[in-house]
Amino acid sequence: MMPLAKTPPMGWNSWNTFGWNISEGLIKETAQAFEDRGLKAAGYEYLVLDDCWSLRQRNADGKLVADPEKFPNGMKALSDCLHGRELKFGLYSCAGVLTCAEYPGSFEHEFADAQTFAEWGVDFLKYDYCNRPLNHDGKILYRRMAMALRNCGRDILFSACNWGHHEVEKWIRSSGAHMWRSTGDIVDNWESVKSIAKSQIGKECHGAPYCHNDMDMLVVGMRDNGTFVGGGGCTDEQYRTHFSLWCMMNSPLMIGCDVRNMSDEAQAILTNAELIALNQDPEGRQPYVTRHWDWDDAGAHTFVKPLHDGSYAIGLFNLDDMSTKASVQFWDMGLPVASGYGFKLRDLWAREEVGVVKEGMNMQIDAYSCKVYRAELVKV
Ligand code: GAL
Repeated sequence: MMPLAKTPPMGWNSWNTFGWNISEGLIKETAQAFEDRGLKAAGYEYLVLDDCWSLRQRNADGKLVADPEKFPNGMKALSDCLHGRELKFGLYSCAGVLTCAEYPGSFEHEFADAQTFAEWGVDFLKYDYCNRPLNHDGKILYRRMAMALRNCGRDILFSACNWGHHEVEKWIRSSGAHMWRSTGDIVDNWESVKSIAKSQIGKECHGAPYCHNDMDMLVVGMRDNGTFVGGGGCTDEQYRTHFSLWCMMNSPLMIGCDVRNMSDEAQAILTNAELIALNQDPEGRQPYVTRHWDWDDAGAHTFVKPLHDGSYAIGLFNLDDMSTKASVQFWDMGLPVASGYGFKLRDLWAREEVGVVKEGMNMQIDAYSCKVYRAELVKV
């Protein structure tokens, strides 16, 4: 098996917007939109069908069967179509007897199902946690499917989804998974984005190359059009901050909106190459927080992330509903005032050079907003 997921996986997942309402036509149109809206060029590659793609029963041989009404040509034809476009195909199953929407799960069918997925040309498996027999430890169920996938004859990325239960961050990497959901389901509103981001403090350092901390699918661009995860929607400013947090914290970037109909603003957010470069930095280092004391109160939060070329990403975030002061002092990053160095800064949302700054920065940040810089050390 090839090493997979050196950097956080990027793609799209059907659940947030479409729920059970999925079909071959939807996936083909989404693949077309990947090309037309610049997503493929930006690095998004996996198209993942979430729950509800199969029939409610296995066939007489005990195999999973794609719902013929939704997928009249079957899964192999669909994966061939995506591979022909140089995209990758993802499916969903569950460690339990039934999936969360009560379709057949892979419990005690792990090896046979991995074989079926390989035959269908699947490249990615999201593996959920509902309806698990409670006398089975979750750990062993993820180890089982990882073993089955790692030996099925095809490179299949394994996306574990146990919602952060049982301190998953401590054992999932050694099960063989490539990403692991660290939280419950995201909802398309600011409170949900904010609480997921906050819940990562202290956990983020468990994410590293080949096994990433999955903060759940992006809600960027959904505008409250979600079958199950609609929650009022966010503003474009909030979506920008959400995307920046997921980039700074190295979460997989799985789009959840209807990319066929996304706004130009959503497209601009999702394809910001300089933000994506922070998420995809080959060293995969997580950020540290320089001002932590006020995380639970109003105020800004500063993240600093070392990048492979010696530069740093600096993100100043205001997660609250009032404008606030934010600052970063370069000595908190390790730069003594007397060093003779400063940072040459580039603002990655304004896409402009800021110039060389010594010692630090203080600024006012609007509600729900952020500033993200790439900072290069220079002699001053
Ligand atoms: C949840 C999971 C969601 C989605 C859903 C499908 O458990 O967290 O992301 O996959 O099941 O039923």
